[in-house]
Amino acid sequence: MYFNFQDYIPMKEITKICCIGAGYVGGPTMSVIAKKCPHIQVTVVDINADRIAQWNETDLDKLPIYEPGLKEIVAATRNKNLFFSTEVDKAIDEADVIFISVNTPTKTYGKGKGQAADLKFIELCARNIAKVATNDKIVVEKSTLPVRTAGAIKNILDNTGNGVNFEILSNPEFLAEGTAIQDLLHADRVLIGGDETPTGQKAKDLLSQVYENWLPKERILQTNVWSSELSKLVANAFLAQRVSSINSISALCEKTDANVEEVARAIGYDSRIGSKFLSSSVGFGGSCFQKDILNLVYISQSLGLQEVADYWEQVIIMNDYQKRRFADNIISTLYNTVSGKKIVFFGWAFKKDTNDTRESAAIYVADALLEERAELSVFDPQVKEQTIFRDLDYLNTRSPEENKKLVTVVDDPMDQVENAHAIAVLTEWDEFKSYDWQKIYDKMLKPAFIFDGRRLLDKVKMEEIGFNYYRIGQV
Ligand code: UDX
Ligand code: UDX
Repeated sequence: MYFNFQDYIPMKEITKICCIGAGYVGGPTMSVIAKKCPHIQVTVVDINADRIAQWNETDLDKLPIYEPGLKEIVAATRNKNLFFSTEVDKAIDEADVIFISVNTPTKTYGKGKGQAADLKFIELCARNIAKVATNDKIVVEKSTLPVRTAGAIKNILDNTGNGVNFEILSNPEFLAEGTAIQDLLHADRVLIGGDETPTGQKAKDLLSQVYENWLPKERILQTNVWSSELSKLVANAFLAQRVSSINSISALCEKTDANVEEVARAIGYDSRIGSKFLSSSVGFGGSCFQKDILNLVYISQSLGLQEVADYWEQVIIMNDYQKRRFADNIISTLYNTVSGKKIVFFGWAFKKDTNDTRESAAIYVADALLEERAELSVFDPQVKEQTIFRDLDYLNTRSPEENKKLVTVVDDPMDQVENAHAIAVLTEWDEFKSYDWQKIYDKMLKPAFIFDGRRLLDKVKMEEIGFNYYRIGQV
């Protein structure tokens, strides 16, 4: 007899949400859903008890993630309709909808090493949901995943579950760190992919209703599940490609009298090109761009599309070149040796307004300079000392003891510039602009150099003070 799944999907509005993974994506996304949907109970769970404890901190400055506007929302919703918990199974069982928002790092072993996404956490989540769920659920992929992962999740759920029905949706996140709350509140679009079956449609509509609490319906796009999964990778690949494109031009500008900012402005005025995402930099970082492109490359290769794979891989090759080029320029400008020279890093985060350092260009520039035996002193307004050493140690280029010997992390930028040979600006923190640069200059060794990897500082002013000032994309 034909089995009508549709009856098993809750017709009622969603009232309980569980999110597995209290990270940069899960935390802010669920906070905004809780704020905008007071009638929905949102529980964010994580296997990391420390992280959950931090989310439950009374002192809101100690939340595990720094995002402008986040602590205010957490203050208004926490323990009302937003809960952070380590009781994963209980939250799964109670929820109508389960978001999977765990990390999907690039594989560091076996087939696809260095390129494919490691899906072990996703699989663990799916198996746990299957084990625990006693009634029908909608399971939402929030983590960025290779195309066709939903199929794998569905397979696990359908074959190992307690006979309950699962509808799988893909609902990728497009928030950018540092502006996460604004991006969530005023999303350009929300993408919901699901099966083109009556039950799939119903699940998509129920999830759409959640977002319709604060976003216009026309901004909520529904697609099939594969289009949704692929769109997320493609969106990040296109964005990263713009940065690599303008960065390739920055190298050309430095060899000519062109100024990359003027070129970006001139092309950005063409409405077909658009002005956003054309800031030349020391290179893009963050947890998504590189990982998602590597994923796209791996998928293309696996499907026999070598030319497509090569095309996208070039975006990463250009980004690596930009980071290396910045470090090489510091070395050659400082008379071809930085051995024993004090170089001060302003910024370590991969962009301003976040404490996230994953894949930050600063890590790779530091590594290249440390290979030349430079002595680094690092200041970042939001990044902790232990994170900086963790990032360097993770590269395994030298021992943790050597890193400790060569790198100092300081809380006050003024303390570190004393007797420095050069300052390198790696993150575009606004506060760097308002520093007393005359005082900084006075404390440094002469000639005093600035290498501005973010084009942040005022060139004319820096040169008037007396600095030898170099910025990306301009002689
Ligand atoms: C992650 C991915 O990096 C990104 O590709 C995806 O789009 C969303 O998820 P993010 O939130 O930034 O992004 O990751 P992270 O801050 O590492 O948070 C993931 C959390 O999941 C961690 O707190 C981790 O403890 C938790 N986790 C992981 C679980 O709760 N269960 C697991 O089985 C694995
Ligand atoms: C990105 C996507 O923007 C977001 O939609 C997706 O959900 C996750 O990945 P994120 O990595 O948080 O977000 O930050 P983003 O603002 O995109 O910046 C990524 C990197 O590119 C940063 O290192 C940034 O400094 C760099 N960048 C960005 C440039 O160098 N120049 C630019 O013009 C823009």
